[in-house]
Amino acid sequence: MNDLFVFGGRVVGPAGPARADVLIRDGRISAVGTELEVPEGIERFDASGKLVLPGSIDPQVHFREPGLEKKEDLASGGHAALAGGVTSFMEMPNTKPATVNAAAIEDKLERAAGRVHCDHAFFVGATADNADELGTLEQLPGCAGIKLFMGSSTGGLLVRDDATIERVLRSGTRRVTFHSEDEDTLEANYRALGRDEPVTRHPEVRSVEAAVRSTTRLLDLAERTGRPVHVLHVSTADEVDLICERDLGELVTFELTPNHLFLAAPDCYEQHGSWAQMNPPVRDARHRDRLRAALADGLAACIGSDHAPHTAEEKARPYPQSPSGIPGVQTTLPLLLTAVRDGWLDWAGLLRGVNEGPRRVYGIEGKGLVEVGVDGDLAIVDPSITGPLQADWLRSRSPCNPFIGVELAGLPVATVVRGRLACVAGELVGEAQGQPLTFASVR
Ligand code: DOR
Repeated sequence: MNDLFVFGGRVVGPAGPARADVLIRDGRISAVGTELEVPEGIERFDASGKLVLPGSIDPQVHFREPGLEKKEDLASGGHAALAGGVTSFMEMPNTKPATVNAAAIEDKLERAAGRVHCDHAFFVGATADNADELGTLEQLPGCAGIKLFMGSSTGGLLVRDDATIERVLRSGTRRVTFHSEDEDTLEANYRALGRDEPVTRHPEVRSVEAAVRSTTRLLDLAERTGRPVHVLHVSTADEVDLICERDLGELVTFELTPNHLFLAAPDCYEQHGSWAQMNPPVRDARHRDRLRAALADGLAACIGSDHAPHTAEEKARPYPQSPSGIPGVQTTLPLLLTAVRDGWLDWAGLLRGVNEGPRRVYGIEGKGLVEVGVDGDLAIVDPSITGPLQADWLRSRSPCNPFIGVELAGLPVATVVRGRLACVAGELVGEAQGQPLTFASVR
């Protein structure tokens, strides 16, 4: 059933694409190469002219179920993921109710079973109330780890003070992920905001200072407690420099989003209005270029889309009532392919971003490589699909994607999860058989 022979394509490794076929038996890759011996009766997929990449792992998505399904649900978000070549996702806890206990994680796993084709895991949100139980919660099956909001964003999760953050860091062992913006600074800046301010002010309101203050505090806390931390969606050149200077090695890893790599202020706000609004904000080209360099040279550990869908009506509210968040799970891989075409990222950098990086940061088992023994998760890309990215290709419930119209350098056309063709030309195939991810960091 989970056997597939993908032939005729070019498999993308760190050195670039090279001709190879892939044989998947029982959901796992059993051979990679040319002139493979293929048993009779195995389903075949002709990948001639196509690139064969490991299925992307998106370690930061917001799929809104339970509670906010009009924005997205696990099935619609999972569909968008697969259409974009994403075979595994890790979902954030700011749903309604928030995912802050064992029952909420169990509930999400039950909701995903039979409805989601991708493999998946769910973060538990840190609060002052559950701080001391997190070491237990992070060990639950299907738990992606702990997420802590140091600055408030969508939803009510927030831990603003160092004493509680320290309690969180002292409970458990897995790497803890952070939304790093300093709440005191944010609060003061929102208070000072006048009436009828445009969304172009967003990077000033959620300032560089707010990000740097928070990340400085976080690095101090990581050093003091010895607990590994992961800074999500880093948005400033200053934080990259800070992390370099502090040189804490594997204790501190960080993520970048395509939004901060492919958009720049003020143009993005002038062109897309609140569709370019997210937290932390997209900033000017100086920051974008530093983040690009951090991805290209391997300083940044991984890429997460921070897929954060809102409805078009919500996004049309005047700033700052317009909610922050950009739906991007489906557009990460297409955008990274344009980066390779445009020459600022090599294939090794792309694979580090969406495969090797998430695997390493979170200790995800059996994913992210086209190698014998690894799960047969593949993103099959047609590099001949160029021209502008079309809105009707997108599968998220939220239409508010600022990358519509980007000049493509290829598009995922088929996605394979553990040896099953799960999505072809943007449409789901067969039954949803997504499974919880497993982690080496869970004992
Ligand atoms: O822009 C954002 N939107 N940043 C976040 O941290 C949360 C996200 C959301 O859930 O809407």
